[in-house]
Amino acid sequence: MTFEHVLVVGAGQMGGGIAQVIASSGRRVSLHDAAPGAVERGINTMRKSLTRLAEKGGADPDEVLGRVSGVGDLVPADLMIEAVVEDSAVKDDVFRRADAILPPEAVLASNTSSIPIASLAAATGRPDKVIGMHFFNPVPVLKLVEIIRARDTSDETANAITELARALGKTPAVANDFPGFVSNRILMPFINEAVWALQEGVAEAEAIDTIAKLGFAHPMGPLALADLIGLDTCVAIMDVLKDGLGDDRYAPAPLLQEHVSAGRLGRKSGRGFFEYS
Ligand code: CAA
Repeated sequence: MTFEHVLVVGAGQMGGGIAQVIASSGRRVSLHDAAPGAVERGINTMRKSLTRLAEKGGADPDEVLGRVSGVGDLVPADLMIEAVVEDSAVKDDVFRRADAILPPEAVLASNTSSIPIASLAAATGRPDKVIGMHFFNPVPVLKLVEIIRARDTSDETANAITELARALGKTPAVANDFPGFVSNRILMPFINEAVWALQEGVAEAEAIDTIAKLGFAHPMGPLALADLIGLDTCVAIMDVLKDGLGDDRYAPAPLLQEHVSAGRLGRKSGRGFFEYS
């Protein structure tokens, strides 16, 4: 399985980045998003990123974008990668429809950060071909792909997706289907604790992030990273950890929820823990 034609569902920061790296590997991409204008916005972001990469010797942006077509609905392909909002009802619906439209041999993958792969597999009649393929933001830059095997994922599917991650220039790491997998089991409680520290007045936001950047050599502090990920996504992931692990210590910090209720979602809305112009 070389996955020559990939359907990417969701053209936000993750879906757009995934479409970009797949098209950059020479594969054909159909990009779908239910929100009007989202595919065009996704392609504009891809063009900016590809232009930055071209300045450093990367491929011609027009050539890469020539392999990406916006599509008004799901279409048959060798592989679907779903990157829609972190909401299991919305994802279940995408998997149900993809199962009806994509050929029976096609693999259905999700970029979910935390939703159980088994529950997405249950929405299809091909659980052996359902897998997690979790990329990291910014997708064109970060090398990791966390590959999540559910109970019914076949070896053939896992091997093919691991090979694909390598063919995209990424480093795969395999995890089992536990809430938050490995990445968010570790990252999100770290971010949540930083929000508690801010809320309790342990330090100002700048100081918290400086301590993580210079003290732990992280490229970004946890609050700036939360703004990059999206505070609504952070709350959704903490809720999955709390419910899935059955432990209230994973509850989202009240200040995180307050920001989301106020529409301060991070970079994408211009304001989160920090302001963005
Ligand atoms: N496209 C192409 N190139 C990009 C880019 C993009 N979108 N964003 C950054 N770059 C390039 C820049 O051109 C630059 O290249 P050079 O070094 O060759 O000049 C390089 O990446 C570094 O970028 P900047 O100089 O602009 O800024 P920086 O050094 O501060 O790096 C960053 C920015 C890459 C975002 C870095 O801060 C970083 O790695 N941050 C951590 C991000 C992280 O932890 N992401 C994971 C989030 S969790 C997730 O995604 C999954 C989840 O489940 C929640």
